[in-house]
Amino acid sequence: MNLLVTGGAGFIGSNFVHYIYGQRPDWHISVYDLLTHAGSKKNIEGLDASRVDFVQADICDEASIDKAVSECDAIVHFAAESHNDNSLASPWPFVNTNLVGTFRLLESVRKHGKRLHHISTDEVYGDLGLDDPAKFTPDTPYNPSSPYSSTKAGSDLLVRAWVRSFDVQATISNCSNNYGPYQHVEKLIPRQVTEIIEGRKPKLYGNGQNVRDWIHAEDHSSGVLAILEKGKIGETYLIGANCERNNKEVVEMILELMGKAKNDYELVNDRPGHDLRYAIDASKLMNELGWRPKYTDFRQGLANTIDWYKQNEDWWKPQKKVTEAKYKELGR
Ligand code: NAD
Ligand code: DAU
Repeated sequence: MNLLVTGGAGFIGSNFVHYIYGQRPDWHISVYDLLTHAGSKKNIEGLDASRVDFVQADICDEASIDKAVSECDAIVHFAAESHNDNSLASPWPFVNTNLVGTFRLLESVRKHGKRLHHISTDEVYGDLGLDDPAKFTPDTPYNPSSPYSSTKAGSDLLVRAWVRSFDVQATISNCSNNYGPYQHVEKLIPRQVTEIIEGRKPKLYGNGQNVRDWIHAEDHSSGVLAILEKGKIGETYLIGANCERNNKEVVEMILELMGKAKNDYELVNDRPGHDLRYAIDASKLMNELGWRPKYTDFRQGLANTIDWYKQNEDWWKPQKKVTEAKYKELGR
Protein backbone atom coordinates (compact mmCIF):
# COMPACT_ATOMS: atom_id res chain seq x y z
CA MET A 1 0.00 0.00 0.00
CA ASN A 2 1.28 3.40 -1.02
CA LEU A 3 -0.77 5.81 1.07
CA LEU A 4 -0.97 9.53 0.34
CA VAL A 5 -1.82 11.61 3.43
CA THR A 6 -2.77 15.21 2.66
CA GLY A 7 -2.31 17.52 5.65
CA GLY A 8 -0.07 14.87 7.22
CA ALA A 9 2.12 17.49 8.92
CA GLY A 10 -0.82 19.00 10.84
CA PHE A 11 -2.24 17.93 14.19
CA ILE A 12 -4.49 14.96 13.35
CA GLY A 13 -2.75 14.13 10.07
CA SER A 14 0.61 13.68 11.83
CA ASN A 15 -0.97 11.61 14.61
CA PHE A 16 -2.44 9.45 11.81
CA VAL A 17 0.97 9.13 10.10
CA HIS A 18 2.53 7.95 13.39
CA TYR A 19 -0.36 5.55 13.95
CA ILE A 20 -0.15 3.97 10.46
CA TYR A 21 3.66 3.83 10.71
CA GLY A 22 3.27 1.71 13.85
CA GLN A 23 0.25 -0.36 12.79
CA ARG A 24 1.04 -1.11 9.14
CA PRO A 25 4.83 -1.64 8.86
CA ASP A 26 4.57 -2.76 5.22
CA TRP A 27 2.83 0.43 4.03
CA HIS A 28 4.62 3.39 2.46
CA ILE A 29 3.32 6.83 3.44
CA SER A 30 3.64 10.01 1.36
CA VAL A 31 2.83 13.17 3.28
CA TYR A 32 1.55 16.04 1.12
CA ASP A 33 1.35 19.32 3.03
CA LEU A 34 1.70 23.03 2.31
CA LEU A 35 3.09 23.72 5.82
CA THR A 36 0.77 26.61 6.68
CA HIS A 37 0.98 28.10 10.20
CA ALA A 38 -0.66 24.85 11.43
CA GLY A 39 1.74 22.37 9.81
CA SER A 40 5.31 21.46 10.76
CA LYS A 41 7.81 18.90 9.52
CA LYS A 42 8.78 18.45 13.17
CA ASN A 43 5.47 16.60 13.64
CA ILE A 44 6.73 13.73 11.50
CA GLU A 45 10.41 13.86 12.42
CA GLY A 46 12.33 10.69 13.21
CA LEU A 47 10.39 8.33 10.93
CA ASP A 48 12.37 6.05 8.60
CA ALA A 49 12.79 7.94 5.29
CA SER A 50 12.47 4.70 3.30
CA ARG A 51 8.91 4.38 4.65
CA VAL A 52 7.74 8.00 4.81
CA ASP A 53 8.38 10.76 2.29
CA PHE A 54 7.29 14.37 2.27
CA VAL A 55 6.15 16.80 -0.45
CA GLN A 56 5.60 20.44 0.40
CA ALA A 57 2.82 21.54 -1.94
CA ASP A 58 -0.62 23.11 -2.11
CA ILE A 59 -3.68 20.88 -2.46
CA CYS A 60 -5.05 23.55 -4.83
CA ASP A 61 -2.08 23.15 -7.20
CA GLU A 62 -3.54 21.00 -9.97
CA ALA A 63 -0.24 19.63 -11.34
CA SER A 64 1.30 18.80 -7.94
CA ILE A 65 -1.73 17.05 -6.51
CA ASP A 66 -2.28 15.16 -9.76
CA LYS A 67 1.28 13.82 -9.70
CA ALA A 68 0.98 12.76 -6.04
CA VAL A 69 -2.37 11.02 -6.66
CA SER A 70 -1.06 9.25 -9.76
CA GLU A 71 1.79 7.72 -7.70
CA CYS A 72 -0.27 6.34 -4.77
CA ASP A 73 -2.85 3.60 -4.20
CA ALA A 74 -5.11 5.43 -1.76
CA ILE A 75 -5.50 8.88 -0.23
CA VAL A 76 -6.59 10.05 3.22
CA HIS A 77 -7.48 13.73 2.91
CA PHE A 78 -6.84 15.75 6.10
CA ALA A 79 -5.53 18.96 4.49
CA ALA A 80 -7.74 21.87 5.45
CA GLU A 81 -7.90 25.22 7.12
CA SER A 82 -9.27 24.03 10.45
CA HIS A 83 -9.76 26.85 12.99
CA ASN A 84 -13.13 28.57 13.40
CA ASP A 85 -11.71 31.82 14.81
CA ASN A 86 -9.39 32.17 11.79
CA SER A 87 -12.30 31.52 9.42
CA LEU A 88 -14.22 34.40 11.01
CA ALA A 89 -11.24 36.74 10.68
CA SER A 90 -10.33 35.69 7.13
CA PRO A 91 -12.64 33.29 5.25
CA TRP A 92 -10.89 33.10 1.84
CA PRO A 93 -8.19 30.52 2.70
CA PHE A 94 -11.03 28.28 3.94
CA VAL A 95 -12.98 28.58 0.69
CA ASN A 96 -9.80 28.01 -1.29
CA THR A 97 -8.27 25.05 0.56
CA ASN A 98 -11.40 23.31 1.81
CA LEU A 99 -13.53 23.70 -1.32
CA VAL A 100 -11.20 24.33 -4.27
CA GLY A 101 -8.52 22.02 -2.82
CA THR A 102 -10.98 19.16 -2.30
CA PHE A 103 -12.29 19.73 -5.84
CA ARG A 104 -8.75 19.49 -7.29
CA LEU A 105 -8.10 16.31 -5.33
CA LEU A 106 -11.40 14.75 -6.45
CA GLU A 107 -10.65 15.45 -10.10
CA SER A 108 -7.28 13.67 -9.82
CA VAL A 109 -8.84 10.79 -7.87
CA ARG A 110 -11.45 10.44 -10.64
CA LYS A 111 -8.83 10.59 -13.40
CA HIS A 112 -6.57 7.96 -11.82
CA GLY A 113 -9.27 5.75 -10.26
CA LYS A 114 -7.85 5.82 -6.71
CA ARG A 115 -9.49 5.06 -3.33
CA LEU A 116 -10.19 8.19 -1.25
CA HIS A 117 -11.11 8.70 2.38
CA HIS A 118 -12.25 12.25 3.14
CA ILE A 119 -11.83 13.61 6.67
CA SER A 120 -14.59 15.88 7.90
CA THR A 121 -16.10 17.26 11.07
CA ASP A 122 -19.25 17.01 13.18
CA GLU A 123 -19.59 20.79 12.75
CA VAL A 124 -21.26 20.26 9.35
CA TYR A 125 -24.43 19.35 11.29
CA GLY A 126 -24.64 22.70 13.11
CA ASP A 127 -25.29 22.59 16.84
CA LEU A 128 -27.62 20.95 19.37
CA GLY A 129 -29.49 22.36 22.37
CA LEU A 130 -27.92 21.71 25.77
CA ASP A 131 -30.85 19.51 26.83
CA ASP A 132 -31.51 17.96 23.43
CA PRO A 133 -31.49 14.14 23.85
CA ALA A 134 -30.46 13.79 20.18
CA LYS A 135 -26.89 13.30 18.98
CA PHE A 136 -25.58 13.72 15.42
CA THR A 137 -26.04 10.65 13.19
CA PRO A 138 -25.09 10.17 9.52
CA ASP A 139 -28.71 11.13 8.67
CA THR A 140 -28.69 14.49 10.50
CA PRO A 141 -29.31 17.30 7.96
CA TYR A 142 -26.35 19.59 7.21
CA ASN A 143 -26.68 23.00 8.90
CA PRO A 144 -23.20 24.55 9.28
CA SER A 145 -22.70 27.86 11.11
CA SER A 146 -19.25 29.27 10.34
CA PRO A 147 -17.09 29.87 7.25
CA TYR A 148 -15.00 26.90 8.45
CA SER A 149 -17.88 24.45 8.91
CA SER A 150 -19.71 25.58 5.77
CA THR A 151 -16.62 24.96 3.62
CA LYS A 152 -16.16 21.54 5.25
CA ALA A 153 -19.86 20.81 4.55
CA GLY A 154 -19.34 21.88 0.94
CA SER A 155 -16.31 19.60 0.63
CA ASP A 156 -18.36 16.64 1.90
CA LEU A 157 -21.07 17.38 -0.67
CA LEU A 158 -18.47 17.50 -3.44
CA VAL A 159 -17.22 14.05 -2.38
CA ARG A 160 -20.77 12.67 -2.30
CA ALA A 161 -21.48 14.10 -5.77
CA TRP A 162 -18.26 12.64 -7.22
CA VAL A 163 -19.19 9.22 -5.79
CA ARG A 164 -22.66 9.30 -7.31
CA SER A 165 -21.90 11.00 -10.62
CA PHE A 166 -18.45 9.61 -11.43
CA ASP A 167 -18.24 6.39 -9.38
CA VAL A 168 -15.34 7.74 -7.35
CA GLN A 169 -14.42 5.17 -4.66
CA ALA A 170 -14.70 7.35 -1.58
CA THR A 171 -15.82 7.25 2.05
CA ILE A 172 -16.31 10.16 4.48
CA SER A 173 -15.90 10.44 8.23
CA ASN A 174 -17.16 13.25 10.48
CA CYS A 175 -15.35 13.35 13.79
CA SER A 176 -15.81 15.33 17.00
CA ASN A 177 -13.23 17.53 18.81
CA ASN A 178 -9.77 15.93 18.95
CA TYR A 179 -7.12 16.38 21.62
CA GLY A 180 -3.60 15.03 22.02
CA PRO A 181 0.00 15.89 21.06
CA TYR A 182 0.95 18.22 18.15
CA GLN A 183 -2.24 20.34 18.33
CA HIS A 184 -1.65 23.99 17.45
CA VAL A 185 -1.76 26.45 20.38
CA GLU A 186 -4.68 28.33 18.76
CA LYS A 187 -7.08 25.52 19.85
CA LEU A 188 -8.84 25.34 23.25
CA ILE A 189 -6.80 22.75 25.17
CA PRO A 190 -3.24 23.64 24.01
CA ARG A 191 -4.03 27.35 24.37
CA GLN A 192 -5.06 27.02 28.01
CA VAL A 193 -2.24 24.63 28.93
CA THR A 194 0.39 26.95 27.41
CA GLU A 195 -1.24 30.05 28.94
CA ILE A 196 -0.83 28.43 32.37
CA ILE A 197 2.78 27.37 31.63
CA GLU A 198 3.55 30.99 30.67
CA GLY A 199 1.96 32.28 33.88
CA ARG A 200 -1.33 33.64 32.51
CA LYS A 201 -4.94 32.63 33.06
CA PRO A 202 -7.00 30.39 30.73
CA LYS A 203 -9.58 32.23 28.61
CA LEU A 204 -13.12 30.98 28.34
CA TYR A 205 -15.39 32.31 25.60
CA GLY A 206 -18.81 33.63 26.68
CA ASN A 207 -20.10 31.80 29.76
CA GLY A 208 -18.12 28.58 29.21
CA GLN A 209 -21.29 26.49 28.85
CA ASN A 210 -20.67 25.40 25.23
CA VAL A 211 -20.26 21.62 24.99
CA ARG A 212 -17.75 19.68 22.88
CA ASP A 213 -17.50 15.88 22.51
CA TRP A 214 -13.80 15.01 23.02
CA ILE A 215 -11.84 12.19 21.39
CA HIS A 216 -8.11 11.41 21.50
CA ALA A 217 -6.44 11.89 18.09
CA GLU A 218 -5.19 8.27 18.17
CA ASP A 219 -8.77 7.02 18.45
CA HIS A 220 -9.68 9.20 15.46
CA SER A 221 -6.79 7.53 13.58
CA SER A 222 -7.93 4.00 14.43
CA GLY A 223 -11.45 4.90 13.25
CA VAL A 224 -10.10 6.20 9.94
CA LEU A 225 -8.00 3.06 9.40
CA ALA A 226 -11.06 0.86 10.04
CA ILE A 227 -13.05 2.81 7.44
CA LEU A 228 -10.19 2.81 4.92
CA GLU A 229 -9.86 -0.97 5.16
CA LYS A 230 -13.44 -2.11 5.83
CA GLY A 231 -15.76 0.84 5.07
CA LYS A 232 -18.41 0.66 2.35
CA ILE A 233 -17.84 2.96 -0.63
CA GLY A 234 -20.16 5.97 -0.64
CA GLU A 235 -20.88 5.73 3.09
CA THR A 236 -20.44 8.33 5.83
CA TYR A 237 -19.24 7.23 9.28
CA LEU A 238 -19.31 9.36 12.44
CA ILE A 239 -16.36 9.07 14.84
CA GLY A 240 -16.75 10.02 18.50
CA ALA A 241 -15.87 8.64 21.94
CA ASN A 242 -18.94 9.66 23.95
CA CYS A 243 -17.16 12.33 26.00
CA GLU A 244 -19.28 15.48 26.20
CA ARG A 245 -17.88 18.20 28.49
CA ASN A 246 -18.63 21.90 28.64
CA ASN A 247 -15.66 24.23 28.16
CA LYS A 248 -15.76 25.36 31.78
CA GLU A 249 -15.40 21.74 32.95
CA VAL A 250 -12.44 21.20 30.58
CA VAL A 251 -10.68 24.36 31.74
CA GLU A 252 -11.33 23.53 35.41
CA MET A 253 -9.85 20.06 34.88
CA ILE A 254 -6.76 21.52 33.19
CA LEU A 255 -6.29 23.99 36.07
CA GLU A 256 -6.67 21.24 38.64
CA LEU A 257 -4.26 18.89 36.82
CA MET A 258 -1.72 21.75 36.65
CA GLY A 259 -1.97 22.50 40.38
CA LYS A 260 -4.00 25.73 40.10
CA ALA A 261 -7.28 26.85 41.68
CA LYS A 262 -10.27 25.64 39.66
CA ASN A 263 -11.66 29.16 39.24
CA ASP A 264 -8.40 30.76 38.10
CA TYR A 265 -9.66 31.59 34.56
CA GLU A 266 -10.95 34.69 32.73
CA LEU A 267 -14.22 35.03 30.83
CA VAL A 268 -13.51 36.76 27.48
CA ASN A 269 -15.54 37.89 24.44
CA ASP A 270 -17.60 35.14 22.89
CA ARG A 271 -16.97 33.79 19.37
CA PRO A 272 -19.56 35.20 16.92
CA GLY A 273 -22.10 32.51 15.96
CA HIS A 274 -20.55 30.17 18.57
CA ASP A 275 -22.03 26.66 18.23
CA LEU A 276 -23.59 25.56 21.52
CA ARG A 277 -23.18 21.79 21.61
CA TYR A 278 -21.85 18.92 19.50
CA ALA A 279 -22.50 15.23 20.27
CA ILE A 280 -21.70 12.20 18.13
CA ASP A 281 -23.55 8.90 17.83
CA ALA A 282 -20.78 6.57 16.59
CA SER A 283 -22.89 3.40 16.66
CA LYS A 284 -22.65 2.81 12.88
CA LEU A 285 -18.84 2.68 13.04
CA MET A 286 -18.95 0.51 16.16
CA ASN A 287 -21.64 -1.91 14.98
CA GLU A 288 -20.68 -2.24 11.31
CA LEU A 289 -16.88 -2.04 11.51
CA GLY A 290 -16.24 -3.13 15.11
CA TRP A 291 -14.34 0.06 16.05
CA ARG A 292 -13.90 1.00 19.73
CA PRO A 293 -12.07 3.99 21.27
CA LYS A 294 -9.05 3.15 23.43
CA TYR A 295 -8.75 6.44 25.36
CA THR A 296 -11.94 6.31 27.42
CA ASP A 297 -10.49 8.08 30.50
CA PHE A 298 -10.59 11.77 29.49
CA ARG A 299 -8.86 12.95 32.67
CA GLN A 300 -5.92 10.62 32.03
CA GLY A 301 -5.76 11.55 28.32
CA LEU A 302 -5.77 15.23 29.29
CA ALA A 303 -3.03 14.69 31.91
CA ASN A 304 -0.85 12.98 29.27
CA THR A 305 -1.50 15.82 26.82
CA ILE A 306 -0.55 18.43 29.45
CA ASP A 307 2.71 16.50 30.05
CA TRP A 308 3.44 16.51 26.33
CA TYR A 309 3.12 20.33 26.17
CA LYS A 310 5.29 20.69 29.29
CA GLN A 311 7.98 18.52 27.70
CA ASN A 312 7.82 20.10 24.24
CA GLU A 313 8.10 23.85 24.82
CA ASP A 314 10.50 24.11 21.84
CA TRP A 315 7.72 22.82 19.63
CA TRP A 316 5.02 25.32 20.64
CA LYS A 317 6.94 28.43 21.82
CA PRO A 318 7.59 29.78 18.29
CA GLN A 319 3.81 29.77 17.53
CA LYS A 320 2.62 31.13 20.85
CA LYS A 321 3.38 34.87 20.61
CA VAL A 322 1.86 35.40 17.19
CA THR A 323 -1.23 33.37 18.15
CA GLU A 324 -1.85 35.40 21.30
CA ALA A 325 -1.30 38.66 19.37
CA LYS A 326 -4.13 37.62 17.02
CA TYR A 327 -6.40 36.79 19.98
CA LYS A 328 -5.59 40.12 21.63
CA GLU A 329 -6.89 41.97 18.55
CA LEU A 330 -10.16 40.03 18.84
CA GLY A 331 -10.49 40.67 22.57
CA ARG A 332 -10.38 36.93 23.16
P1 NAD B 1 -4.50 21.42 11.35
O1 NAD B 1 -4.88 22.83 11.05
O2 NAD B 1 -3.72 21.11 12.57
O3 NAD B 1 -3.70 20.79 10.12
C1 NAD B 1 -4.05 21.03 8.79
C2 NAD B 1 -2.88 20.64 7.92
O4 NAD B 1 -3.25 20.88 6.55
C3 NAD B 1 -1.62 21.48 8.18
O5 NAD B 1 -0.47 20.66 8.24
C4 NAD B 1 -1.54 22.43 6.99
O6 NAD B 1 -0.22 22.81 6.67
C5 NAD B 1 -2.20 21.58 5.91
N1 NAD B 1 -2.77 22.43 4.84
C6 NAD B 1 -3.58 23.50 5.01
N2 NAD B 1 -3.87 24.03 3.81
C7 NAD B 1 -3.27 23.26 2.88
C8 NAD B 1 -3.21 23.30 1.47
N3 NAD B 1 -3.81 24.27 0.76
N4 NAD B 1 -2.50 22.33 0.83
C9 NAD B 1 -1.86 21.36 1.52
N5 NAD B 1 -1.85 21.29 2.86
C10 NAD B 1 -2.56 22.22 3.54
O7 NAD B 1 -5.88 20.65 11.34
P2 NAD B 1 -6.35 19.36 12.16
O8 NAD B 1 -6.98 19.82 13.41
O9 NAD B 1 -5.27 18.37 12.16
O10 NAD B 1 -7.51 18.87 11.19
C11 NAD B 1 -7.23 17.96 10.12
C12 NAD B 1 -8.53 17.60 9.44
O11 NAD B 1 -9.41 17.02 10.38
C13 NAD B 1 -9.27 18.78 8.85
O12 NAD B 1 -9.84 18.37 7.62
C14 NAD B 1 -10.36 19.09 9.86
O13 NAD B 1 -11.47 19.67 9.25
C15 NAD B 1 -10.66 17.70 10.37
N6 NAD B 1 -11.19 17.62 11.75
C16 NAD B 1 -10.53 18.22 12.79
C17 NAD B 1 -11.00 18.05 14.10
C18 NAD B 1 -10.29 18.67 15.28
O14 NAD B 1 -10.78 18.55 16.39
N7 NAD B 1 -9.15 19.29 15.13
C19 NAD B 1 -12.16 17.29 14.32
C20 NAD B 1 -12.81 16.71 13.22
C21 NAD B 1 -12.31 16.87 11.94
O1 DAU C 1 -15.96 19.51 16.37
C1 DAU C 1 -14.85 19.33 15.56
C2 DAU C 1 -14.10 20.64 15.39
O2 DAU C 1 -13.44 20.88 16.62
C3 DAU C 1 -13.11 20.61 14.24
O3 DAU C 1 -13.81 20.48 13.03
C4 DAU C 1 -12.26 21.88 14.21
O4 DAU C 1 -11.25 21.77 13.22
C5 DAU C 1 -11.59 22.06 15.57
O5 DAU C 1 -10.88 23.27 15.59
C6 DAU C 1 -12.66 22.05 16.66
O6 DAU C 1 -13.50 23.22 16.56
P1 DAU C 1 -13.93 24.06 17.86
O7 DAU C 1 -14.28 25.41 17.40
O8 DAU C 1 -14.90 23.30 18.67
O9 DAU C 1 -12.48 24.02 18.65
P2 DAU C 1 -11.69 25.12 19.48
O10 DAU C 1 -10.54 24.39 20.10
O11 DAU C 1 -11.40 26.33 18.69
O12 DAU C 1 -12.73 25.50 20.62
C7 DAU C 1 -13.33 24.52 21.44
C8 DAU C 1 -14.35 25.24 22.32
O13 DAU C 1 -13.66 26.08 23.25
C9 DAU C 1 -15.29 26.16 21.56
O14 DAU C 1 -16.55 26.12 22.20
C10 DAU C 1 -14.67 27.54 21.72
C11 DAU C 1 -14.03 27.47 23.09
N1 DAU C 1 -12.79 28.25 23.31
C12 DAU C 1 -11.79 28.17 22.41
C13 DAU C 1 -10.60 28.84 22.62
C14 DAU C 1 -9.50 28.79 21.59
C15 DAU C 1 -12.64 28.97 24.51
O15 DAU C 1 -13.56 29.01 25.35
N2 DAU C 1 -11.47 29.63 24.71
C16 DAU C 1 -10.45 29.61 23.81
O16 DAU C 1 -9.40 30.25 24.06
